[in-house]
Amino acid sequence: MQTPIRQRVASIVQKPEVKRLLTAQEIIDREDRFGGRHFKLLPVVLTRGQGVFLWDVEGKKYLDFLAGFVAVSQGHCHPRLVKTMRDQAEKLTHTSRAYYTEPLGALSEYLTNLFGWDRFIPMNTGVEAGDTALKLARRWAYRTKKIPSNRASILFAKGNFWGRSLAAVSSSTDPNCCTDFGPFMPLFDTVPYDDLKALESKFKADPNICAFMMEPIQGEAGVIVPTEGYLRGVGELCTKYNILWIADEVQTGLGRTGDRLAIDHEKQRPDILILGKALSGGMYPVSGVLADEQIVFGLETGSRGSTFAGNPIGAAVALEAVKILAEEKLAENAKNLGKILRVELEKLPKDIAREIRGRGLLAGVLVNKEIADGWDVCLRLRDAGLLSRPAHGQIIRISPPLTITEDQLREGIHILTSTVLSY
Ligand SMILES: Cc1ncc(COP(=O)(O)O)c(C=O)c1O
Repeated sequence: MQTPIRQRVASIVQKPEVKRLLTAQEIIDREDRFGGRHFKLLPVVLTRGQGVFLWDVEGKKYLDFLAGFVAVSQGHCHPRLVKTMRDQAEKLTHTSRAYYTEPLGALSEYLTNLFGWDRFIPMNTGVEAGDTALKLARRWAYRTKKIPSNRASILFAKGNFWGRSLAAVSSSTDPNCCTDFGPFMPLFDTVPYDDLKALESKFKADPNICAFMMEPIQGEAGVIVPTEGYLRGVGELCTKYNILWIADEVQTGLGRTGDRLAIDHEKQRPDILILGKALSGGMYPVSGVLADEQIVFGLETGSRGSTFAGNPIGAAVALEAVKILAEEKLAENAKNLGKILRVELEKLPKDIAREIRGRGLLAGVLVNKEIADGWDVCLRLRDAGLLSRPAHGQIIRISPPLTITEDQLREGIHILTSTVLSY
């Protein structure tokens, strides 16, 4: 039975304010006691980050091999990002899109010039940017492709992950994401990833498909790299059947896989590109969508918006974050160090490390469950001074900040390999 509200408020008011520093365990217990239950956290309490390193409340130093789920590509507390954020915070933080401010135009101009699409629509999180892309596709479906009203369908790759909103889980094939969240969005369909034949059959069978949304490398599915030629094939089929290609590069974009964008690997240009995560270097939630005029014009006044999207702090930080990626040549670093990473990890015995996946500094090691549990591996890595997290239980993610040096990477590889070999 629920405690009456008056009693609950009284018990909060009467609690003495805690003045001393909390222990790590107390911090964990408090968060576990008052927070939601939807995330299993590695038991470590972090208090500081610099570059590729993190420190816990007891002063222990860790190599960060997760980079905030790939958001902190520029490294923790990059001095240029901290300065930009501080400077902008002292001037103007938020006005809403009711008015013009200088930073958003600067960011949009920079991104459109850098990547070669006509326009940039800002959002905050990756899932909102994905939703924006789908709205653009539906408007295009009815107003340009002339699909009958309310009949436009959208195809997604199986194993996709683009967030956790109801629209996003409507396209999910992962039971953890979608079980008991129905009813789902109608006319969302899925097709096996990395299968051009299956894709063409779907395109042929349904003239009302307006868009195919996919990740050039599937991150959350366990770092699934498609076979060479898949991206080119997707581009050709989308053109042939007059279907918009939406590339979700929230995880793979902005240098992570060793190219500016993961689609650059096959020199492709989708109709709509979704960016997020590293777009603001982990300083502030900034995401967005790039597309050309003939697609963007479908969303007119009132059809899309968000209180915080495009605000001065986010836009200023994002502009500096993308400049850092280019000026510090972080994609090149990811490409070079990614090769070393792969060579070293491939030396692990295949009975323990079943598969090494990835490109650039987005990698995964599939650990044999019969020998070691993925969560336990991450606990041992933590004890040895490296932080990561498994995907789908057994895939140890490797995605350090792109500012990592060769020595730091080799140190991390040493911790990883000796930990895996300790089983
Ligand atoms: C490919 C991809 N798209 C979208 C998202 C959702 O981003 P956010 O968590 O910022 O909503 C993620 C998050 O991991 C992702 O990996």
